Amino acid sequence: MTTSFVRDSLLYADALASERLPASFHARLAAERFLVDHEVTTKPGNEWEFRDELANRAMLFASMMPNIKGPEAGRPIELMDWQKLVFANIFGFVERRTTTLRFRQGAVFVPKGNGKTTVSAPLALHMTFGEGEGGAEGYAAAVTRDQARILFDTAKHMVSRSAEMKREWGVGALTNSIFQEETASNFVPISSDAKALDGLNVQCAVCDEIWLAPHQRGLRCAYHRDGETAPAVPPLYFDGHRQHLGHRQAALGLRAAGSAAKSGR
Ligand SMILES: Nc1ncnc2c1ncn2[C@@H]1O[C@H](COP(=O)(O)OP(=O)(O)OP(=O)(O)O)[C@@H](O)[C@H]1O
Ligand SMILES: [Mg+2]
Repeated sequence: MTTSFVRDSLLYADALASERLPASFHARLAAERFLVDHEVTTKPGNEWEFRDELANRAMLFASMMPNIKGPEAGRPIELMDWQKLVFANIFGFVERRTTTLRFRQGAVFVPKGNGKTTVSAPLALHMTFGEGEGGAEGYAAAVTRDQARILFDTAKHMVSRSAEMKREWGVGALTNSIFQEETASNFVPISSDAKALDGLNVQCAVCDEIWLAPHQRGLRCAYHRDGETAPAVPPLYFDGHRQHLGHRQAALGLRAAGSAAKSGR
């Protein structure tokens, strides 16, 4: 049965694709692609499948996290439709009969003040600590360390204000690191101005405001890692990017790219 989070994502994608909601060209294409991919994966011979429960689990996790800023501070995050669509894309598609995520890179283009950093934090926490990967390394990346700290501190506040994170996930927060003892995994802020991502075993890197990065260097590191040193679970780069496009719902532009090795798309 399709869960309500996934159903909301499908309805939203349908509204964008059919132009019932105003949307940018790229947002419409992203929505169309999501719908087509979702439909195609229902065919038994397809190498990918869409697993409602995996997408749902990640969205439930995000919904347990508290808002940190603004009038909703302290209340649980109520995911907006565009945020659900991002989660459904990233966490729903897997290699058939496995839990290996299909998409290794996601780029999100949303205007200022629309919840990029807020939603990136639970996404990164879930990828770093929610998959039982031993020694997982998660990074909050940005051009400068100060910028990276905005995302890291958001995640840190979420962890320290969430009793479940400590009790059920065994995740704790220190000044410069969020960690899970049981799996020896951690999440730290890092800047991309000092070749910082080279040579790291990246499980997940969230690059906020990547548009400021010269030559999008962090992203290039991700591609280089797709070679012989690729980790068992691939890294995922999720970029917040400001675009002053006006209408809130018109401004979603989601692009999720399969790795070159796995998918020619
Ligand atoms: N799903 C949500 N439900 C309610 N409030 C939200 C949600 N997502 C974000 N917010 C609130 O919206 C405000 C802006 O969020 P955030 O800082 O994450 O936006 P942003 O896109 O990263 O902004 P900027 O472009 O300035 O970096 C914050 O007060 C945040 O708590
Ligand atoms: Mg932000």
